[in-house]
Amino acid sequence: MKQNKMETTKKATTGNFIFNIMVFQNGILLTCLLLIQVTIFSQNTTSEKTCIDCHKRAVKKDILHGPAVDCTSCHKSNGKEHPLEDVEGFVFLEEGASLCFSCHEEEKPAIIGNKYVHKPVSKGECLECHEVHSSNDPKLIFAKSPDLCYFCHDKLEKSIKKSAVVHLPATEEGGCVGCHSPHSSPEKKMLVSNPKTLCLSCHNKTLTKGDRKITNIDKLLKKSKVVHPALKKSCNSCHDPHASENKYLLSIPYPLGNYAPGTEENYELCFGCHDTDLLLLEKTKYATEFRDGDRNLHYVHVNKEKGRTCANCHNVHGTNEKYLIPETVKFGSWNMPLKFKVLENGGSCKGCHEERKYTR
Ligand code: HEC
Ligand code: HEC
Ligand code: HEC
Ligand code: HEC
Ligand code: HEC
Ligand code: HEC
Ligand code: HEC
Ligand code: HEC
Ligand code: HEC
Ligand code: HEC
Ligand code: HEC
Repeated sequence: MKQNKMETTKKATTGNFIFNIMVFQNGILLTCLLLIQVTIFSQNTTSEKTCIDCHKRAVKKDILHGPAVDCTSCHKSNGKEHPLEDVEGFVFLEEGASLCFSCHEEEKPAIIGNKYVHKPVSKGECLECHEVHSSNDPKLIFAKSPDLCYFCHDKLEKSIKKSAVVHLPATEEGGCVGCHSPHSSPEKKMLVSNPKTLCLSCHNKTLTKGDRKITNIDKLLKKSKVVHPALKKSCNSCHDPHASENKYLLSIPYPLGNYAPGTEENYELCFGCHDTDLLLLEKTKYATEFRDGDRNLHYVHVNKEKGRTCANCHNVHGTNEKYLIPETVKFGSWNMPLKFKVLENGGSCKGCHEERKYTR
């Protein structure tokens, strides 16, 4: 990005002062000519010409940075004649971010005063993202996100662009800054709010993706007596907020139909937090409460080549019934009632079968 900008800067300068180009291209003779011309130029003009007369490029974009009406609010003469070839005529009133904060005092705490500060901001590199004189953007940024962010986060750009499933807010214009502050935040990863609140700020309504309706998760959680403790801190333990190879933006593959081989690898998403014993032990008195005596009913239902997936009996976000068991589950397109009952030291279900009970 720095390079891009340097190029523009160079173009701006050479564009204005054609003589310079000639010097660089044609050598010493022209240097002499140039020196004479610049001298005449400045002698004739410094007194009448304003900064903008000679530096039109600085202010040529649509939106002017407030103070650019008075160039000396940032550039202070160092006493030398201006312009003079290869002689700097100005110093900055302050250097780096201090220059910005000399006016943007009130915004300083929000920009740099939080616990988690964006690297380029902590290094005072405001001009990696902002234009200082004029811009086509009201926030004086070179480009809108995600392009602005991709200048430096090219790895993320590649991974988003090659992913099978992308999260719309990560790709739409201005999307990145809907979730991340470009400057700093009290939240990790510079999130604009607590990660769960952030997700629910949009998932508090039914959204659509193509023809598909996406469940209103906030409503589901509010009406659920049982919320999966995995959701307590954040949604990211299962979802990638940007993009993924897996359906529903799941961070690792997870079987969603009714059947899948009941292997440990297939359910890594769950076994990141839960013990695999609930799947692997045929007989147990401790590994799960879903057992008849010591007969592990998770093992019975799940652990086989055509095993039943967790989704047959659990809703991973929240339910009204205990143990994340919903009233109905999808069997193909049928909403199959489970009629789960909690019984003394066990439970029972009707669903794929007549009522069947288990007693620990
Ligand atoms: C808000 C502070 C500020 C104001 C106001 C300001 N400048 Fe600058 N100017 C800067 C900074 C900072 C740089 C250094 C830019 C860089 O390093 O990329 C700069 C660089 C320049 C340069 C050299 C590089 C370039 O971009 O061409 C020129 C010429 C210049 N300013 C002219 C002006 C003129 C003319 C005005 C009034 C229209 C003006 N500046 C107003 C802060 C300011
Ligand atoms: C007569 C035309 C002219 C006027 C008027 C003029 N400049 Fe310049 N300015 C130039 C030229 C030519 C250069 C490039 C000199 C070089 O290449 O070293 C330049 C370079 C600069 C630079 C970068 C180098 C340096 O000197 O620091 C800044 C900043 C700058 N001008 C600011 C201003 C400001 C602020 C004003 C008004 C107070 C102003 N200029 C008025 C022609 C002008
Ligand atoms: C001399 C005072 C001054 C300096 C120095 C200054 N600014 Fe500003 N800036 C202003 C003013 C005045 C405005 C217009 C405020 C408004 O319209 O509410 C403004 C507006 C902005 C805006 C748009 C604000 C918005 O809320 O939409 C941005 C972004 C900005 N400045 C960034 C910078 C950066 C980055 C620097 C340092 C390179 C800087 N400013 C240095 C005075 C300054
Ligand atoms: C990584 C890019 C990036 C860097 C670095 C950066 N900014 Fe910004 N800045 C932005 C973006 C993007 C916005 C617009 C935010 C929005 O639209 O919500 C913004 C907005 C602003 C605003 C307007 C007020 C606001 O919060 O909307 C000011 C003032 C500002 N920046 C100053 C600075 C200063 C000072 C620095 C350096 C200390 C800096 N910025 C560094 C990207 C950046
Ligand atoms: C000028 C380069 C640059 C630009 C532009 C930039 N970033 Fe960064 N960003 C960085 C660097 C450097 C890091 C630190 C990386 C590291 O430590 O591994 C970083 C880290 C981050 C982090 C992780 C912070 C953490 O605590 O781990 C997030 C989130 C982030 N950037 C978001 C953004 C967003 C959103 C944008 C666009 C508005 C953006 N960045 C634009 C350079 C940039
Ligand atoms: C829907 C909200 C959301 C959007 C939109 C979003 N992010 Fe993120 N981003 C997050 C969350 C949440 C995390 C933290 C993930 C974690 O902690 O595992 C994150 C993490 C990051 C990180 C740190 C990476 C890491 O592995 O630690 C970077 C860099 C980043 N985002 C950049 C971006 C950029 C660039 C965009 C725009 C293309 C963007 N984000 C859009 C929510 C979002
Ligand atoms: C700015 C609004 C917004 C925020 C914030 C947001 N989402 Fe989304 N999300 C959407 C929209 C819109 C869709 C549907 C369109 C799409 O993704 O293509 C969606 C879709 C989804 C999907 C379904 C994707 C699929 O293909 O099946 C999941 C899962 C999801 N979001 C999780 C999250 C998580 C986790 C967070 C917090 C890190 C989050 N969302 C934050 C707007 C948002
Ligand atoms: C324990 C893992 C896990 C956690 C934590 C999690 N999800 Fe999910 N999410 C899933 C799975 C698995 C699916 C696939 C569909 C299903 O089983 O409901 C899914 C699907 C979704 C969908 C798509 C629903 C649809 O109807 O297409 C959205 C939106 C979503 N989750 C948002 C969230 C939000 C917001 C959070 C945090 C409040 C969150 N998830 C936390 C595992 C999780
Ligand atoms: C981020 C960690 C985490 C992940 C990932 C996770 N869980 Fe959980 N889950 C918990 C915690 C913590 C509890 C409460 C303590 C316990 O029962 O182990 C829990 C409890 C449960 C319960 C019992 C709820 C109750 O009310 O008794 C079920 C059922 C469940 N998880 C299913 C799943 C399924 C299915 C998956 C995979 C899609 C999964 N979990 C992934 C953390 C997680
Ligand atoms: C046939 C229905 C069914 C299937 C399929 C199923 N569970 Fe369960 N699960 C239950 C029942 C019923 C309970 C509650 C047992 C009790 O406490 O009485 C339970 C409880 C749990 C618990 C709480 C701790 C425990 O074992 O008692 C976790 C965690 C859990 N299941 C995870 C999973 C995971 C992960 C999958 C998929 C690999 C899965 N379940 C598949 C019915 C099922
Ligand atoms: C997706 C279909 C399906 C669902 C849903 C289902 N079961 Fe079953 N269940 C079976 C099948 C099939 C068997 C017979 C064992 C086998 O062949 O795998 C079985 C067997 C049982 C048995 C007898 C195990 C034994 O000792 O042989 C009990 C008890 C049982 N289920 C309880 C439940 C409970 C409680 C639920 C609800 C939480 C439930 N089932 C949901 C398909 C299902």
